[in-house]
Amino acid sequence: ETKPRIPVLWLHGLECTCCSESFIRSAHPLAKDVILSMISLDYDDTIMAAAGEQAEAIIAETIEKYDGNFILAVEGNPPLNQEGMSCIIGGRPFLEQLKHAADHCKAIISWGSCASWGCVQAARPNPTQATPVHKVPGLADKPIIKVPGCPPIAEVMTGVISYILTFDRFPELDNQGRPKMFYSQRIHDKCYRRPHFDAGQFVEEFDDEGARKGYCLYKVGCKGPTTYNACSTVRWNGGLSFPIQAGHGCIGCSEDGFWDKGSFYER
Ligand code: SF4
Ligand code: SF4
Ligand code: F3S
Repeated sequence: ETKPRIPVLWLHGLECTCCSESFIRSAHPLAKDVILSMISLDYDDTIMAAAGEQAEAIIAETIEKYDGNFILAVEGNPPLNQEGMSCIIGGRPFLEQLKHAADHCKAIISWGSCASWGCVQAARPNPTQATPVHKVPGLADKPIIKVPGCPPIAEVMTGVISYILTFDRFPELDNQGRPKMFYSQRIHDKCYRRPHFDAGQFVEEFDDEGARKGYCLYKVGCKGPTTYNACSTVRWNGGLSFPIQAGHGCIGCSEDGFWDKGSFYER
């Protein structure tokens, strides 16, 4: 309660905004408590009241006031082709805005699979050359925390922020830059359908007898055995459910390049 709220600039590149949609639904802690008591969300063009030049001026103001001391949260990624012309914010390529803010921030949080890996806009043939944050040429060398998922789980997003503020340090990361506390296990490791996998009881087709009995979804494409995320432990909607519990296999949405790795139906 006595700590000053850490300033955050939350920028948006090529993305669908569902990372924000996820974030605002956090139940533990409530997103409102994060925004009103823990961080100072100085700029987030999807939820801020200011618009246009007034909004863009806040970026310059924050950079001047908190140079080297604010968190840069990035949702989406910049397209590199045609000098970034496929994503323009405030009359300038997002690429420029991102690099400028990165020059002055303390650390970067890459929200979601767009910022962490590239996601759908970087799927083959990637016409705009959409590029994840850590691969942007010339980006300042700052610590980057990847929080992948399409979108990431709300409580994982607010959990990462809570950790940083509580302990005044960044969470321990794995060799791909993801917080170990949320991404060290595969969906398969803690999946409640795992006993069926071990017993060789599989859904062969959606809506067959095995599907009605809740058998393992591996044979209908579940990517849980190769996907690192917290869905089978933290779950979604305040711990209520997750894709597999809803009857569909994991499509590996938190993994690098999942759009090109056969996660979707071909027929
Ligand atoms: Fe949307 Fe997924 Fe990108 Fe988040 S990671 S902005 S949910 S496409
Ligand atoms: Fe593993 Fe998927 Fe089967 Fe769960 S449904 S046990 S994650 S293969
Ligand atoms: Fe994504 Fe798989 Fe979780 S599809 S939401 S990582 S169960």
